[in-house]
This record gives sequence, structure tokens and C-alpha cells, in this order.
Amino acid sequence: MAELTGKVAIITGAARGQGEAEARLFVAKGAKVVLTDLLEEDGAKVAADLGDAARFVRHDVADPDDWATVVETAVREFGGVDILINNAAIYWTNGFADETAERVEKIMQVNFFGVWHGMQAVLPLMKAKRAGAIVNISSQAGLEGLPGHSAYGATKWAVRGLSKTVALEVGEHGIRVNSVHPGVIDTPMIAAVGVERGEGKFPTVPMRRVAAPEEVAEVVAFLASDAASYVTGTELVVDGGLMAGMTVPAGTY
Ligand SMILES: NC(=O)c1ccc[n+]([C@@H]2O[C@H](COP(=O)([O-])OP(=O)(O)OC[C@H]3O[C@@H](n4cnc5c(N)ncnc54)[C@H](O)[C@@H]3O)[C@@H](O)[C@H]2O)c1
Repeated sequence: MAELTGKVAIITGAARGQGEAEARLFVAKGAKVVLTDLLEEDGAKVAADLGDAARFVRHDVADPDDWATVVETAVREFGGVDILINNAAIYWTNGFADETAERVEKIMQVNFFGVWHGMQAVLPLMKAKRAGAIVNISSQAGLEGLPGHSAYGATKWAVRGLSKTVALEVGEHGIRVNSVHPGVIDTPMIAAVGVERGEGKFPTVPMRRVAAPEEVAEVVAFLASDAASYVTGTELVVDGGLMAGMTVPAGTY
């Protein structure tokens, strides 16, 4: 079991979806959590629900000044930062021919530079402490090509590559950096783009279902915890088997 007692975590995009599930699980496992999000009302509600172990900060991950406020809050309220979960992201699908540089710039600012600024903001503290764990949420779309995902997929490949590069640079300081690659997870993100989630809707997923956000949160908690003390620079896939290979009807070959 992952144990997070005494740890202070920053979790971005924690007003709903996977970030919310992670915040709830982390507190249940004994951590203090700074939840951040653009969605003030929802984020504040989750933090209030979690009580003394949680604070909410309104935060745009693409804004380095906002990051300074988030880190200051963690230090002032809870005494430091042990864990950073870079979870916030935006998502859309669009054919490559219809995608524009302006739109790609926007999604890069949130999904890639959000992760970049976050790591820049916490690493000095972690280096001083000679300890820290960073988990960057990438995607199945950061492991393989997917039609319609030229913009989003590029950000998630970039997060995967950045995670490995930073892991190499900070390992000697006792800091671990890993990426998590969810498949199809039942959150407002996929609901918003009309992905149907009902029974039998996912014949290509070996487990034949989408995941609950709590199922990703468990994996993130493991990587953030001391149970993963020798795990860094790796990618952990949480996808019901999607990346194991192609699912085809019996008798196809
Ligand atoms: N849901 C899936 O199927 C799926 C699959 C693969 C990867 N992911 C990844 O998992 C992570 C969590 O996604 P989710 O499914 O919980 O989605 P979600 O949309 O439910 O949650 C994302 C949260 O991030 C917040 N956010 C967006 N832009 C922000 C910004 N600039 N600053 C701060 N917060 C911002 C949103 O307000 C939202 O609360 C994301 O990185 C996403 O790309 C999701």
C-alpha cells in the first residue's frame, strides 16, 4: 500500500476528474494537499470537503507567477513540497489539416508548459531537501499516434520526453520523475467531447470498459510514495491493456 503520511503534495487540475480523485486519495493516505485549478468554485468545494489537510489555490498552470503563489501556499500552510502531480490539461480532437498553429500554441501552453513551469517551480525546494517525487500525467496519446490527436498528442509526447530528461538530471538529488499514461478514463474531459462510455462501447479495450478516475489515482499515489523509491524516468500505462497490442475479433488471423 502506498503510504503518504507526512508528505505535502501539489496536485494541479484537482477540481474534478482524476485530479480530484488523486487529492481525495492522497488525503486518505495521510498527505497534505494543495489543490489547484482554474475552476474556483469546484476546486474550493473539494478542498473544503477534505478539511484541514487541503487548501485550494486558483491557478493557471501556464502562468509562472501563479506557480509562485502555489508553492508559497504549500510552504506557508504545510511547510514545503514533497510531491508534485502535474495533472491539469485541456483536450480536443481535430484533423491535422484543420489544426492551426494558434490552437497548437494554446494547448502547448497548458499541457506542456504547465508541466515545465511546475517542475521549474518545485525543483529548487526538492533539491534543497534532497528528496521529491514528480508525476506528470501524459496519455496513451503520448505513446502512440492517434488520428485527430496531432495537437494534444504532441503535448503528451512532449511531457513524456521531458519527464525522462528531467529524471536523468535530478536523480542525483534524490528526486524522482515519472509519467503516467491513462487510456480512456471516465471524467468530464471525455464526456465533453462526446465519448460514449456505456457497456460494450469499448470493444478495442482488452478489459472492455473505461476506467474510473480512482483507478488512475492509485497508480499515481504509488509513484508519488516511498514505495516507488527506486522508480524514476519510467512510464506507467493505465489503459486496460490498450497498449499491449491490437484487439481483433477472434478468427481474424
Ligand atoms: N480522461 C481521459 O480519458 C484521459 C486519458 C488520457 C490522459 N488524460 C489526462 O489525465 C489528466 C486529467 O484529465 P481528466 O480526465 O481528469 O480531465 P478533466 O477535464 O476532468 O480535468 C482536468 C482539470 O484541469 C483543469 N485545467 C485545465 N486547464 C487548466 C489550467 N490552465 N490551469 C489549471 N487547471 C486547468 C480543468 O479545469 C479540470 O478541472 C490530464 O492531463 C489529461 O490529459 C485523460
